Amino acid sequence: MKARQIRERVHWLGAVDWDRRLFDSLIPLPDGTSYNAYLVRGSEKTVLLDSVDPPMADVLMFQLESVPHIDYVVAHHAEQDHSGAIPQVLQKYPGAQVVTTPKGKEMLADLLPIPAERFVTVDDGETLSLGDRTLEFIHTPWVHWPETMVTYLPQERILFSCDFFGSHVATTDLYVTDEARVYEAAKRYYAEIMMPFRKIIRKNLDKLEGRAIDLIAPSHGPIYDRPAFIVDAYREWVADAPQNVVVLPYISMHGSTRRMVEYLVSALAERGVTVHQFDLAVTDIGKLAITLVDAATIVIGTPTVHRGPHPSVFYAAHLANALRPKARFASIVGSYGWSSQAVEQIAGLIPNLDVEVLAPVLVKGFPRAADFQALEELAAAIAQKHAELGLA
Ligand code: FEO
Repeated sequence: MKARQIRERVHWLGAVDWDRRLFDSLIPLPDGTSYNAYLVRGSEKTVLLDSVDPPMADVLMFQLESVPHIDYVVAHHAEQDHSGAIPQVLQKYPGAQVVTTPKGKEMLADLLPIPAERFVTVDDGETLSLGDRTLEFIHTPWVHWPETMVTYLPQERILFSCDFFGSHVATTDLYVTDEARVYEAAKRYYAEIMMPFRKIIRKNLDKLEGRAIDLIAPSHGPIYDRPAFIVDAYREWVADAPQNVVVLPYISMHGSTRRMVEYLVSALAERGVTVHQFDLAVTDIGKLAITLVDAATIVIGTPTVHRGPHPSVFYAAHLANALRPKARFASIVGSYGWSSQAVEQIAGLIPNLDVEVLAPVLVKGFPRAADFQALEELAAAIAQKHAELGLA
């Protein structure tokens, strides 16, 4: 992909990674991704904002063949999918300096072979004149590492946001053309890496207010030419209020737990509660993460393996604990053969979740009439709790 013009003095550079299916050897990327860099040419100085993932460095270096001089490389974020090709860029432009936050300098020096004298650090709100263009650096920590910042270009009303507002989408569209598709991808991205920092992200959103923004140019996925679309979505995701939603990840080995889950899902649906049911044996963990963004309640369904929950449930509970969703209530349902410590062990896996635990339903063997009645009561309790929050 060649460089593409956004404004007279602003170009998109970077690489579209159509075939990548996993990030951090963990996060599914069903739609691939892109590593967006941007070139801003002021009347006096030229700046490259971010770079690309090292395996695609040749794409960026090809695009830079027609750029004779770069004064600065802005590193919004030290993670290597944006910073990894900076050493090659610095080799091509021996006079260029890396502009980053003080924490960014520390982290980049740890992660990459960049000599200390090549760095310039910028404070929150500091500006850099490029002649007839100015860059304003806004520190936005914890989106999603401690060193992150964004850059505002007031003359063009562009916010370069790096991971903030990004979406893992490989596309030839420079701008968002399919909002439904990008909404899902951006929410997946938020859920997987931003959600643990929901409260500080809310403060960062506040910090951006008051600036006129025509374009948000992230470093993954297409550019937003209707910024309110993604800013409003973020506002909703970081809000404290959950929705009238239950997420129900489960595993069943011989059908007893599945029977209980299906009964509970039906009982909740009858009470007007939206339920997302996930069989952990086959589910896309990213889809599960997306639903955790809004859910008021998490119910885990697990059989007992030896004395504890199924290993797949360990993984899902650990993930939910790490993502720190805004859920207010939790419970556990499942079946066991002779004894179980599933409830105690799962409770120990989710210390980060600030939830009220509603009476679990653990059944010895196949569920019977009294067990279904207990599930009915659990559904009623969840619906009641949601109603008390004004969610129904
Ligand atoms: Fe896209 Fe946190 O790197």
